Amino acid sequence: MDSLTDLELCIGRLPRVSLAHLPTPLERLPRFSESLGGPQIWIKRDDCTGLAMGGNKTRHNEFLMADAVEENADLVVWGAGVQSNNCRQTAASCAKLGIACHLLLSRGGHGHEIQGNLLLDHILGASYEIVDECVGPELDQRIARTAQLFRDQGRQVYSWDRSTVKAKAAISYSQCLIEITRQIEAQDIEPAALYICSGGSTGAGLALARKILQINYPIHNILPIHWPWDEQQDLSDIANAAADLLELPERVAPEEINIDGAYVGKGYGIPTEECMEAIQLLARTEGILLDPSYTAKAMAGLIDHVRSGRYSTSQHIIFVHTGGTPALFAGAGDLAAMLTPTEKPLADH
Ligand SMILES: Cc1ncc(COP(=O)(O)O)c(C=O)c1O
Repeated sequence: MDSLTDLELCIGRLPRVSLAHLPTPLERLPRFSESLGGPQIWIKRDDCTGLAMGGNKTRHNEFLMADAVEENADLVVWGAGVQSNNCRQTAASCAKLGIACHLLLSRGGHGHEIQGNLLLDHILGASYEIVDECVGPELDQRIARTAQLFRDQGRQVYSWDRSTVKAKAAISYSQCLIEITRQIEAQDIEPAALYICSGGSTGAGLALARKILQINYPIHNILPIHWPWDEQQDLSDIANAAADLLELPERVAPEEINIDGAYVGKGYGIPTEECMEAIQLLARTEGILLDPSYTAKAMAGLIDHVRSGRYSTSQHIIFVHTGGTPALFAGAGDLAAMLTPTEKPLADH
């Protein structure tokens, strides 16, 4: 049996609920590629995973929510930033599965008007608290305390726990690389590189599958944030914990993981000029929307690498769109001020 079928069989043995529209399309970006005068760029549309405006967490949740269902949970307690795509997709997953959802949303220096993802959390019926704890170990502890309070009241709680959730979520992106491998085979192309916005489970799952499938092209994980820990080591730990869950012998060393923190700019969630250019260029050439916190920063990295002459015009590059577009609305005022005006089609009367 080949390594692809083998990996797929191992993944298929894990409990999973169906939440996402899969496989997501792999589309060519002819006008975008032409505007860069560079290689042939393709986009893997994980913004189209289908659940409440889609994104990468819908894939993650197919494995995580299977545990919630298996444990007969009547409440999921989750948390992240106030404009979290993760929390929005978790609220949607819970709605679909008939499980209540309570969110701990970290204020994190950003406004918390009811817009973007926070508006969608409301519509999806999640309850939430805005808290001061920072995303990371501080928020993790707050989530654990809140989950315990609900348990003490007799609720059956499934809650965010970094030590178990990260590896399980990663497996869904090993599955995504299987999909991509099949799609590029069908298109008869060999990519020169793959770009994605990740600093966690998503890139870890890709790294594990890359190792198992013996893929040669590099995967560039463009960071949306500088974590206070070593991201290369973290992704390697997550990938290896995922391999354990799959009962596979492969291990991914930190040096095998390509992390690029050059496009974060002033900080997480703060748009850079380069990411605004990426948002407009993709929207105006292909009608596809990126978001300023994650995917546009990754696309800014891809554009920069293309412009620096890394690739020839005949090479193929894959960009994985991980979703996040609701954040466009949360930052509307600031973003509008950074947009390049469009030309008027008619002369003034
Ligand atoms: C749109 C989007 N892209 C990428 C990521 C990064 O995912 P991961 O933390 O699994 O690397 C996130 C995480 O929230 C996200 O919302």
